[in-house]
Amino acid sequence: MADGPERRLSVLARQLGVEDTGQLLSANPCATSSGNAVAPLLAGQVALITGKGIGEAAALLLAAHGAAVVVCDIDGTAAQLVAGAVQTFIEHEAGGRAVAVAGDVTAPDFGERAVGEALRAFGGLHILINNAGYTWDGVAHKMSDEQWSAMLEVHCTAPFRLIRAAAPAMRDAAKAESQGSQVSCIINISSTSGTHGNAGQANYATAKAGVVGLTKAVAKEWGPLNVRCNAIAFGLIDTRLTRPKEQGESIQVGGQTVPLGIPSADAYWKQLKAQVPLRRVGTAEEAAGAILALASPYSSYVTGQVLEVNGGSHM
Ligand SMILES: NC(=O)c1ccc[n+]([C@@H]2O[C@H](COP(=O)([O-])OP(=O)(O)OC[C@H]3O[C@@H](n4cnc5c(N)ncnc54)[C@H](O)[C@@H]3O)[C@@H](O)[C@H]2O)c1
Repeated sequence: MADGPERRLSVLARQLGVEDTGQLLSANPCATSSGNAVAPLLAGQVALITGKGIGEAAALLLAAHGAAVVVCDIDGTAAQLVAGAVQTFIEHEAGGRAVAVAGDVTAPDFGERAVGEALRAFGGLHILINNAGYTWDGVAHKMSDEQWSAMLEVHCTAPFRLIRAAAPAMRDAAKAESQGSQVSCIINISSTSGTHGNAGQANYATAKAGVVGLTKAVAKEWGPLNVRCNAIAFGLIDTRLTRPKEQGESIQVGGQTVPLGIPSADAYWKQLKAQVPLRRVGTAEEAAGAILALASPYSSYVTGQVLEVNGGSHM
């Protein structure tokens, strides 16, 4: 089954111990909040997630744990499909609420627009996941200025603008709380290319390293207001970014068509898997699991960190 909400929902159903998506309504952890002894992990929280792929799996998982989700993507149809899947399959008293925001995260007004939509639809914003991105690979000595700048724009500037736009919702809300009890969190998606470098990705590696600096600076600035900020550096996760380039996937950004994927990915995967202690590539659902872990109240004393989710490579 191809990527998309349908396949991800069936994985979610398996994770929650039921046979098909039709049973998700009764199986999800917060389906019957009145009958539950334990409140859903993210009940009452609003999460804004950019990008599908890993972002789509994260939106479904966070929604299944009680969050209302704002799903943002340059591909408006895809964002709408994910929001629709949440509304249809994960509806429950504490969550199942979703809206889609179509648009390019690098547009200067995108942050304000997306945060505004979270406030309009759900009245707040507690979790911001800066996940949207792509690769535009090439060796450093042949890389164009455009290729270089595009990576900084999408992986650093866009997350910075979203964080800035989220300030009133996250910082001011915490200031207004008498005990500062509102806890918000930001999760920025980095990569092992950013934390360890990768040949053919000088632009992407630099941008993903920038994500780490942004994360730590915001963690220090906003920590006193109970806003946590962490990064996740993924290793090889099975999405269209890491599948064979020959499959012809591409993204349209800024009037450009950028081909996605890895040339001769089969050989690359084989070589890489041999270096991964778990001996396999990660799934988008496993990546989403790490996002949920950091977003959950059980990570309430974790901030300014870079969590490497890579099957144990780069120890
Ligand atoms: N797949 C991996 O192995 C891997 C490893 C490390 C880090 N990452 C990072 O994870 C994140 C998610 O990637 P993925 O693997 O799920 O890929 P993906 O292509 O499946 O998803 C990325 C999403 O981001 C969206 N996007 C890209 N540019 C955008 C823009 N300018 N405006 C709005 N939306 C935009 C795309 O439309 C797509 O839906 C990216 O930041 C990526 O760099 C992925």
